[in-house]
Order: sequence, then structure tokens, then C-alpha cells
Amino acid sequence: MNTAQPRKRLVIGNWKMHGNQAANASLLDGLCAGFPAVRACDLAVCVPFPYLGQAGASLQGSGISWGAQDVSKHEQGAYTGEVSAAMLADFSCSWVLVGHSERRSIHGESDQLVADKAQAALAAGLTPVVCVGETLEQNEAGTTDEVIARQLAPVLALGAAALEKIVIAYEPVWAIGTGRTATPEQAQQVHAAIRARLDGSVAAKVRILYGGSVKAANAASLFTMPDIDGALVGGAALMAEEFLRIAAA
Ligand code: G3P
Repeated sequence: MNTAQPRKRLVIGNWKMHGNQAANASLLDGLCAGFPAVRACDLAVCVPFPYLGQAGASLQGSGISWGAQDVSKHEQGAYTGEVSAAMLADFSCSWVLVGHSERRSIHGESDQLVADKAQAALAAGLTPVVCVGETLEQNEAGTTDEVIARQLAPVLALGAAALEKIVIAYEPVWAIGTGRTATPEQAQQVHAAIRARLDGSVAAKVRILYGGSVKAANAASLFTMPDIDGALVGGAALMAEEFLRIAAA
């Protein structure tokens, strides 16, 4: 771990729409068995809604926390199919991903909706993990900073008291699921730019995770960067040993 970092490493596994009860049981048991060796890191898994109960039952008391991959901006009501932050808290969730690029692109989630979801999560005592990131086209056009700034603007408007309780995840869309990871230097440059948009003490507190083809083989070099405080892991999170090796990198 980079000792210069004042922030404890955080590694979150995003299972996306993968799993079944049998496979989940094996994965969760493997994480519980191996986690004591990586306690220098906050470790969490964000699982599909139907498996929140299983995750909670398996991880309770393990030191590993859990969460969800989306949340409604609404507190309750006639919103068929949505899941409220209070419901996630009812399952002892600690985290919820908001604004993942797959939800922004597939479900047309706006920057404002993402901020509204983050606010709903905070109101229920959850930590929102606000996902931002540019597409390959935007990256190649040199507009990464503008894209990230636009995505973050409604979140920054929540104010310092809220911001110091959130986590930000930078996930370049072109690195997600592609095996093409951003170099540590590329990621650091964007992380530093994100942190520069945060004010004063908030900037020092907020953990900024990198996501996009993180593997055990590349995690250590990413984690040496001063503004990379951990990882948001997709595919590699579905394998207990690989996920734990990332956390311990
Ligand atoms: O949220 C994490 C995910 O988008 C990254 O996926 O498979 O590239 O690690 P992956």
C-alpha cells in the first residue's frame, strides 16, 4: 500500500448480473476464508438484489461488507421494480453503486439522477459509490476532463457534508470488460483531476477507486499511485482467490 496515502484502501467487487445461490455460496465462503490475510484493506461486494440476503448471512461478522449495484432516488411509493435505499439498509448494506456506466448507457441515467440516487443513499445511511468515466470516443477526442466534470457537477452540488461521505469510482468505459486497463499514470492523472475538484478537507478524505479490467497482475502498480485509493472490480471479483489477491496487492 502506498504509505503516503492517508486513506485506507477500499476494494469493491461488482458482481453485475452474475451468480446463483450455489456459486455465490462458494465465492462468499472463499472470501471469508481468505479475508483475514488482507485486513489492511476494506473489502466489499455489491451483489444483485436477490442475493443481498445470502451475502449478508454469509458475510456477517467476517469483516467483509456488502451492498447493491443501484438504488431508487425515491424514498418509497408506486415505483414498480425499483428498490429504495431504506430497503438496502434493511439488508444491512453498507454501499451502493450509483451511475455505473452500464446504467448510464443502457438505462439513460442522467448526471442529475445519479446525484439524486447518491443523496437518497446518504439519507438512508449508505455510502454511495459514484461512478464516472469517459467512452473511448471521448477519450480519443481529448474530452475526458470535461466529461468527468459534467458527470460530477450535480454530485459536487450536494455540498461538503455529503461529499465527505461518498466514494468516487473512475471507470473509463473503454477499459471495462475489455482487458485494456488504463495505465497507472493515465488513471492517476484523472484521479488527481477529480480530487482537485473537491474542496479542502473533503479532497483528502474522499476515496477514489479505479475500475476497468483490474486484475491481480496490475493492481499493485495501480495502487502505488497517490490518488488511487482502491479498485472497483468486475470480472475478477467473481473468483475469490483473484479478488483477494487484488485486495492484498
Ligand atoms: O464496476 C466494475 C466494472 O465496471 C469493471 O469491470 O470486468 O473490467 O473489472 P471489469
